[in-house]
Amino acid sequence: MTTQLKHDPRLSLDDLIETSNRVSLVIESVRGTMLAPNAKKRSPTFSTNKVAAICKLEKAQMDYRVKKGDLPQGSKGSKRRREFSLEETRIWAKNERAEKLRPANAEAITIAVANFKGGVTKSTTAVTLAQGLSLRGHNVLVIDTDPQGSLTTLFGLLPNEDVSDEQTILPLCFGSEISIDYAIQPTYWYGIDIVPANLALYSAEFALPSRQKGEKTFEFWNVLTHAIDTARTKYDVIVIDTSPSLSYLTINALLAADGLIMPLPPSTLDFTSSGQFWNLFNDLASNLLTNRGKTKSFEFVDVLLARVDEEDKSSAVVREWITAAYGNMVLPVEIPKTSVTANATAEFGTVYDTDPAMIDSRTYRRAFDAYERVVELVEGQIQRAWERQIGVQNEI
Ligand SMILES: Nc1ncnc2c1ncn2[C@@H]1O[C@H](COP(=O)(O)OP(=O)(O)O)[C@@H](O)[C@H]1O
Ligand SMILES: [Mg+2]
Repeated sequence: MTTQLKHDPRLSLDDLIETSNRVSLVIESVRGTMLAPNAKKRSPTFSTNKVAAICKLEKAQMDYRVKKGDLPQGSKGSKRRREFSLEETRIWAKNERAEKLRPANAEAITIAVANFKGGVTKSTTAVTLAQGLSLRGHNVLVIDTDPQGSLTTLFGLLPNEDVSDEQTILPLCFGSEISIDYAIQPTYWYGIDIVPANLALYSAEFALPSRQKGEKTFEFWNVLTHAIDTARTKYDVIVIDTSPSLSYLTINALLAADGLIMPLPPSTLDFTSSGQFWNLFNDLASNLLTNRGKTKSFEFVDVLLARVDEEDKSSAVVREWITAAYGNMVLPVEIPKTSVTANATAEFGTVYDTDPAMIDSRTYRRAFDAYERVVELVEGQIQRAWERQIGVQNEI
């Protein structure tokens, strides 16, 4: 008698492949539902009040400027209220905030959003910052260096379906491209261009060290710095999102950056791991730079208290530790933990994508105001960095 072979309860590689295919199918169908009818993200429209707020105009001034007719007039939207498209809003911002925009002889300021840990809102912060700056009239390039492609997804592109390896920074890592220009594409958000990511970016972690061994003058840590040279003259701000590790790509992002933003939830584990991040970064920097007689300085390093849960009593203590450790690097603003931001992200969006009419306006307002404050503070730092750039040019 032969014993019947029992079904093997272990999961084979084929099972896992099947599962992964199923996940892709579900994501694809979910996108169809969320972003119906054509599964593409759309940029928001803005009320007269919103445009006035961005341009810091009083109601009467705004009405006068609209009447004068030399700027876009918007169109009558639902409820016959005047509505401005994103493109129109940015024309207003560029016109009314000219003194806050990039001076002619200055270059883009590059900002990397980084932290060892996943889930600390790096990608959300990167996208929100890019949107907030773009609304204020700046031209922004975002670069996704995380193989997981969350930033890419937030811009409505599915890393596996919509992004080919050649559209990512991978060709830079293999050395078939030197300038990032080939990979820049427009997004649904007028005024923000993107260099997207997909899973293939993981192979950069093999390509870069292997080139380091093979090519005499190659510096694996400077690939991105050199690649964005031309972009620095075309954009006002470049925002780089990074993966939750100090990978070869993250090192590239950090060394290409003029400013760093580290989102940090006030929890014990997140705080201690932030310390490890700096330890490791300092080790690497002394290995790669100091030992070669080079150096690196940042225009600003910001610690951004993120996902702050007001109900959580222990977070108050950790906030004190964070302030004691990071001093005035801590931005004077806290991003509240809200279901609004969590939900909006689930719908491939941020507070700037969300229609306030659709949600509890008080919760939305709190998160929105906090992000607006972050954008304002960072814009101030960008302006000071531009002033320094010009100051240095004048000294030469
Ligand atoms: N202010 C917030 N409150 C609560 N959840 C948030 C907030 N901001 C972002 N999230 C959620 O936290 C998760 C991690 O965010 P993400 O930006 O992907 O982090 P990271 O890039 O650091 O991994 C996402 O599910 C996102 O929706
Ligand atoms: Mg991320």
